[in-house]
Amino acid sequence: MKKWFAVIGDPIAHSKSPFMHNAWFQEMGIDAAYIPIHVKSEHLKEAVSALKLLGASGWNVTVPHKEAIIPFLDEIDPMAVKMGAVNTVVRTKDGKLKGYNTDGAGFVHSLEEAVGKNREKKVLLIGAGGASRGIAFALKEYGYQQVDIANRTVSKAQAIIEELGEGTSLSLDEAEKRLDQYGIVIQATSLGLSTGEKKLPFSLDRLQKETIVADIVYNPLMTPFLTEAEKRGAIIVTGLGMFVHQGAIAFHHWLGQYPDTENMMQKLMEQLK
Ligand code: ATR
Repeated sequence: MKKWFAVIGDPIAHSKSPFMHNAWFQEMGIDAAYIPIHVKSEHLKEAVSALKLLGASGWNVTVPHKEAIIPFLDEIDPMAVKMGAVNTVVRTKDGKLKGYNTDGAGFVHSLEEAVGKNREKKVLLIGAGGASRGIAFALKEYGYQQVDIANRTVSKAQAIIEELGEGTSLSLDEAEKRLDQYGIVIQATSLGLSTGEKKLPFSLDRLQKETIVADIVYNPLMTPFLTEAEKRGAIIVTGLGMFVHQGAIAFHHWLGQYPDTENMMQKLMEQLK
């Protein structure tokens, strides 16, 4: 039987996941299809039953269901448990639904594909929401030893630092002043996700040249944060790679092989220009 996959979310029309996965299926000669499904929060439980009943081999989960879907799954990968969120569901051979989170690892794969492994560098993560949490745990798992977290609400940064067991939590002001100590700076707040216009209230005055600066937002590709960092001589990493790599890791969970991420980056960049 032909395999099929989906992405569920609300809204869902803007998602680039169907384009990406269908292009990979085609490139790799895999007889499968991937469709977007608009699921409202009040219908999540029924939607999960329906996907199971109708034989989906797996699906991605996006806003606002990443946390809410957990009770409806049979098993959760330890990393997704730590993150408290699932973005990928796999139907196992015995028909069980297993949840994974590939966002954080997707970020690290993207960073390392773009600029290589710099695991000894000191990292400043800005933001302490769901996205930032995933990235923090993934950085730790991949061996980044020094990760500090700055956030408008410092207590939320502190909570993640405590779970990580090392690092420092900072206010945005404190982080601005110490910016020259960091080799990698990651913008992981939700600002700019909805409108590319909004600017993070964060000064890059003390940014050193050659610092690696990454953003998790990919639409627009060049966020105000990255534009400013580039002007100051930073090496920049756009958020598009995180999106492509979270998808590639999900693809690997479903089909046991990795798709071509570099080629996909080019294809998506054409669309986002
Ligand atoms: P996500 O799951 O996408 O990370 P989230 O959980 O809503 O989204 O987290 C949003 C992040 O963006 C938080 O770090 C938030 O800071 P607070 O924890 O202080 O709320 C940050 N953020 C959102 N709007 C912001 C703003 N105007 N200035 C600074 N930080 C902002």
